Amino acid sequence: MTEIRATNITWHEGHVTREARARLLKQKGATLWFTGLSGSGKSTIAYTLEHALVERGRLAYVLDGDNIRHGLNKNLGFSAADREENIRRIGEVAKLFADCGVITLTSFISPYRRDRDRVRALHVEGKLPFVEIYMSTPLETCERRDPKGLYKKARAAVAAGQGMGFTGVDDPYEPPLNPEITIDATHTSPQEATIILLEYLQKQGLLE
Ligand code: ADX
Repeated sequence: MTEIRATNITWHEGHVTREARARLLKQKGATLWFTGLSGSGKSTIAYTLEHALVERGRLAYVLDGDNIRHGLNKNLGFSAADREENIRRIGEVAKLFADCGVITLTSFISPYRRDRDRVRALHVEGKLPFVEIYMSTPLETCERRDPKGLYKKARAAVAAGQGMGFTGVDDPYEPPLNPEITIDATHTSPQEATIILLEYLQKQGLLE
């Protein structure tokens, strides 16, 4: 758990309610949390869905692992502790975005169940919708596609006896136990996945 270092701080309630922001934006905020191996299709689908939502007049925004690690989280690596902190920060940021009224799409491997469950709890506590989307694309598919060449690198590192701590190769991935949605990109195109997700959002009353 993260140590709390700040002292003498007081929560300040604003004058603008979440409902007022929802009226302004004509939508409710939510977090759609994509989790899965590197190369499982998280970002491709998140960006396709973001585009589809914006075309339908909804404000959506993707928080993407590789991108966030260029800025906000550039001081974090891939140790278990750093991955935990990565997800903790993004969970908090996603919650702020969702509170603001934005349909927030996060694309992080987020390999540890406990960290994802904490983010879910944060949203439940804040009365904000949280949708966990498990990209169940098997390792073989991700590795065959290897869009960034990182699986090849990781296998070579393992063969050389060093290892790289790469998720799915020599670092663990814990699949969700009760995700709202599961998508295997081996057989589902980004367009098909987007339709599935739009239908889900519609049914949940998140596109009203
Ligand atoms: S997470 O595990 O902390 O959730 P995150 O989604 O932010 O990871 O970043 C994953 C991306 O970082 C991968 O898609 C890949 O491009 C890159 N990466 C670099 N090193 C590693 C590693 N050791 N394990 C997994 N991904 C890595």
